Amino acid sequence: MTKEEAKKRIAKLKSEINYHRYLYHVLNRQEISDAALDSLKHELSKLEEQFPDLVTSDSPTQRVAGLVLKGFKKISHSQPMLSLGDVFSVDELKDWDNRIKKLLPAQQKLEYFAEIKIDGFAVSLIYENGVLKNGSTRGDSKVGEDVTENLKTIDSIPMSLASPEDFREHAAIKEIFKNFPELKKISGDLPKTLEVRGEIYMSKKTFEEINREQKKKKLPLFANPRNIAAGSVRQLDPQMTASRKLDFLVYDIVTDVGQRTHEEEHLLAKILGFKTIEKAKLCKSLDEIEEFWKDILREREKLPSLIDGIVVQVNKNEIFEQLGVVGKTPRAAVAFKFPAEEATTIVEDIIVQIGRTGVLTPVAVLKPVKVSGVTVSRATLHNMDEIRKLDVRIGDTVIIQRAGDVIPDIVKVLKKLRPGYSREFNMPRTFCKQKVMRQEGEVAYRIEHPEKCDLVNREKIYHFVSKNVFDIQGLGPKIIDRLLDEGLIQDAADLFLLKEKDLEHLERFAEKSAANLVEAIQERKKIELSRFIYALGLLHVGEETAFDLAKHFGNLDNLSSVSLEELRRIPNIGEVVAESVYGWFKEEIHKKFIHKLLKAGVEVGSMRPISKKLAGKTFVLTGGLESLARDEAKRMIREKGGDVSESVSAQTDYVIAGSDAGSKLDKAKKLGVKTISEKEFLNMLE
Ligand code: IVH
Repeated sequence: MTKEEAKKRIAKLKSEINYHRYLYHVLNRQEISDAALDSLKHELSKLEEQFPDLVTSDSPTQRVAGLVLKGFKKISHSQPMLSLGDVFSVDELKDWDNRIKKLLPAQQKLEYFAEIKIDGFAVSLIYENGVLKNGSTRGDSKVGEDVTENLKTIDSIPMSLASPEDFREHAAIKEIFKNFPELKKISGDLPKTLEVRGEIYMSKKTFEEINREQKKKKLPLFANPRNIAAGSVRQLDPQMTASRKLDFLVYDIVTDVGQRTHEEEHLLAKILGFKTIEKAKLCKSLDEIEEFWKDILREREKLPSLIDGIVVQVNKNEIFEQLGVVGKTPRAAVAFKFPAEEATTIVEDIIVQIGRTGVLTPVAVLKPVKVSGVTVSRATLHNMDEIRKLDVRIGDTVIIQRAGDVIPDIVKVLKKLRPGYSREFNMPRTFCKQKVMRQEGEVAYRIEHPEKCDLVNREKIYHFVSKNVFDIQGLGPKIIDRLLDEGLIQDAADLFLLKEKDLEHLERFAEKSAANLVEAIQERKKIELSRFIYALGLLHVGEETAFDLAKHFGNLDNLSSVSLEELRRIPNIGEVVAESVYGWFKEEIHKKFIHKLLKAGVEVGSMRPISKKLAGKTFVLTGGLESLARDEAKRMIREKGGDVSESVSAQTDYVIAGSDAGSKLDKAKKLGVKTISEKEFLNMLE
């Protein structure tokens, strides 16, 4: 990027960031996620790093602040309420460690206190003579808002400090006093004023409950627990705060009462009656911190509240103080964040990909960016309607989101960052030398004769060998491409005729892998009818329909000679599917393909006799299962004569609820549908 280009980009980024900051801090609103905003800030700071003379004093990278809202009394903080610098990788953590070590004597050994970072809202509490005097928000870090009355409605904030005497005999407190005898003295002899700081937050469960209520009342939903927590604390009506079931945790004791370490602060807070962070670890090395970070990342989903990383700080308070503050962040602490599931990047191009049924899907080619720790360079745009809805153009800056392992989605276009050279995308008029068309009432564009397109053929073979179909181990798109390009196969049936010696001359294809591949293919020659039907790739015939067809017809002959009338009579099979199936089996080219497969040695089993164990019972699956893959569970139900449905209704007999089951479980409870665990389900099958 030239300096001139950088200058323009910086100006646009700054005004976009400022806009979102104002929304968030002053108006209590949020249009884009924190992760997306962070990503913009990151781009800005990288550009400023590259062109340092473009940094101005009003750049968002140069300040951390917000405005104090009118409507609350102001409270000046005894010490500024600081925030934390972020690191996103072990390397960045090491850099932080090196930076602080340079400021300390050469052989200084450090201990670090690591704890989860709650995604909530910071408040400071002042206790005078042991009684809660006031509580305030961070505000602009020096002056906050007096929200005492609201905070008093939160059960986990003690109205008065616990007297250690009361709890002396309690096992947990006894244990603390045994290991840290000084704390006994400190807690029994507190100064007149004591200040603690911590985080107001809302559990995931309460958040879901509140949003469910909002939905029922047809009110707008809240974006995340932190937004409600912040909004509820800054309510002018304490009744409203009370109704929100907020929670509070202490992470810091500000007043010097003689505590020597951060660890002692946690323990002291606990002694005094505060909820403290249990997920914490005293670490002796960066390796131990990394291990803790990874453990928490793994547990993250199961934790009752949202967290966005861990906080790491030098445990010894004396060294902490000595290291001092830069800007608004203490040198001795950092937030070691979890990989963001959202990021911003630029759409460099929009291309089309064709699927196995001949449907064209627009795909955005992105400037590579890391999301959830993985570098992403493509995002699906689904169809033209989606492109129009998002109004995404080539050259746009977009927010992308990645959930689980799926291809990321573009969730928003940042229109103010649109450059002058942006270009709209149009579906090509032709593809694979054929006309591209769109049927009435359909969103998808497709080509007229998919069977005459090479790329479609490729996709069909990828599908044919994939996990839920022929499941041929070790045979992925890359090898299929090579086999096609070398002329070794023309369709999926040719796979079964491959010999070791055909593969041996392929470059970089070792003898052993040739033998393995041929064996893997031969191993899968026998196949159940339902999988075979699914493998054929008929339009509108997904896995479930393939199963219904297999169940009804029992064998391939019955299916391939069926009449349209009979197809129409099958439950679950609509007109569109009936016509698609009928039309497919009538075509000569398809008859030949089936014949070729059978001749190549494929044996289509008749549908295994279906046990009647679950006959007439409808199941719905929800949440994560432990020992079974979802597809497996579904297959087991169908093989025992049961039905699987995607949504819960009064007709549902059982809901199988795995971990983190969501709205389907609630619906089941409401309708009085029986819920069973995965274990109970497995017992049922026996
Ligand atoms: S220590 C200098 N510990 O994260 C502030 N903060 O991004 C020292 N937070 O302002 C804070 N959990 O509101 C600390 N275990 C934790 C925390 C935590 C959440 C919040 C806090 C802070 C912000 C910094």
